[in-house]
Amino acid sequence: MTAARPVRIFDTTLRDGEQSPGASMNLTEKLEIAQALVQLGVDVIEAGFPIASPGDFASVSDIARSVSAATVCGLARCNDADIDRAWEALQHAAQPRIHVFLATSSIHREFKLRMTEDEVVARAVAGVRRARGHCGDVEFSPEDAARTEIDFLCRVVEAVIDAGATTVNIPDTVGYATPSQMHQVIASLRNRVPNIDRAVISVHCHDDLGLAVANSLAAVEAGAGQVECTINGIGERAGNCSLEEVVMALKTRRDYFQVDTRVVTQRLVPTSRLVANITGIQVPRNKAIVGRNAFAHESGIHQDGMLKERSTYEIIRPEDVGLERTDLVLGKHSGRAALADRAKALGYQLTPEQLQSLFERFKLLADRKKEIYDGDIAALCEDQFTDLPERFTLVGYDLTCSSGQPPRVRLRVAHGDEEKSVEVNAGDGPIDGIFLAIEKLTGIVTVCRDFRVQAVTVGKDAQAEVSVELQPQGAAPGSQTHRGRGVSTDSLEASAKAFLAAVNRVAIGSQPRLHPHQG
Ligand code: KIV
Ligand code: ZN
Repeated sequence: MTAARPVRIFDTTLRDGEQSPGASMNLTEKLEIAQALVQLGVDVIEAGFPIASPGDFASVSDIARSVSAATVCGLARCNDADIDRAWEALQHAAQPRIHVFLATSSIHREFKLRMTEDEVVARAVAGVRRARGHCGDVEFSPEDAARTEIDFLCRVVEAVIDAGATTVNIPDTVGYATPSQMHQVIASLRNRVPNIDRAVISVHCHDDLGLAVANSLAAVEAGAGQVECTINGIGERAGNCSLEEVVMALKTRRDYFQVDTRVVTQRLVPTSRLVANITGIQVPRNKAIVGRNAFAHESGIHQDGMLKERSTYEIIRPEDVGLERTDLVLGKHSGRAALADRAKALGYQLTPEQLQSLFERFKLLADRKKEIYDGDIAALCEDQFTDLPERFTLVGYDLTCSSGQPPRVRLRVAHGDEEKSVEVNAGDGPIDGIFLAIEKLTGIVTVCRDFRVQAVTVGKDAQAEVSVELQPQGAAPGSQTHRGRGVSTDSLEASAKAFLAAVNRVAIGSQPRLHPHQG
């Protein structure tokens, strides 16, 4: 295959993606996702917004130190303190990038910044110069570019390239653009900005009208050389352009777009699962590329066509996005090597100790469940590798209940070396009873904002995956929620584990952070 024009994939799951309500991640989780993004082959990882909080700073700094195969980027508003803090976090990266942004649309100039056009240009130029003083790779984003007057946008872009920006990113911050408009904006920049050849044009689309992927593709068609996107399309409000969708559109329709990315598409499904499990934002079944139904052919006519010739109804081979055709894998008699092999294929790099622990849990599961699917193995891995200090862990429970009566629950929990137990005779049902027992035992009282149960795989003996979102009682409305997840063939046990995992996060607490669009 002859090489086509390269398009860079800039992943912002850890920055814009983390701005999804309820999606905040801890340091270990961010490092795990960063490693998965490296394996996926993205060109740039936007690791966070270093000035936002000490936690954001630490995660950008740790990712910068640990990733060498991709550019690591940190976000900064257009002021010296933000830019210097971003550099402080990025300085040890093998390939650092500072991403500076400033709003340019008339609405933002007038109501948010209260600045004239000249003042905006001067501030943007000063910010880019300051960033270039630290680092040779500087991206500038005129926030709300899609609603910025095109003449002014051309002026800003020319000025920041002169000041040293090596990438100019065109954000559709509020998801307002349409594909033909986005095409026109990129084409205008290419035709009208005299120094445009000195920078890569990037695009960053939000999905408020469900057009983020279409708008990004239109920008690529018009000559954009970088697409900003997130795994599963998570992000501010309705989210960002979905990485897996844009990448597979470019690959599947290479005949049309004539561009290449470096993404290892077989890593798309494992990375999607990892992000869904860590953030607690589950992928809808009908989501393109990574949804559970994306390759399920239900209609008889389609099935008949598929049996005759797959290409009648299939434009992407499931194995090209990392879905195995046969999902049924292991059982009671499977050995450690087979388990290690499946875990590796699913994207989990295990140390010998982690493999041993996974194997022990696998054997316990195999006693409860005849057929162990990929989904079960992924769930065991996810369950195991969340490391939270000082965690309360479930030892066991006894429960009696009958309709119309409050349940009676005896719960045992380990806290460090200690085992504690408690009994309650209250609650609307068994799950409520377990939750009340955990609150009594840990002393942490919460409000439950979300509770979901789903089967990890198929069959009556499938494991239940429970996810909960809690807020400490009395927390301000809209303040951060704490997620927890638990998996077991016993859905009450899974509920108890999920609730305890969330309570552990509440116990550790989290630091307040600044939002990039604030201030
Ligand atoms: O949507 C947006 O405008 C952003 C910028 C910070 C690039 O996320
Ligand atoms: Zn954004």
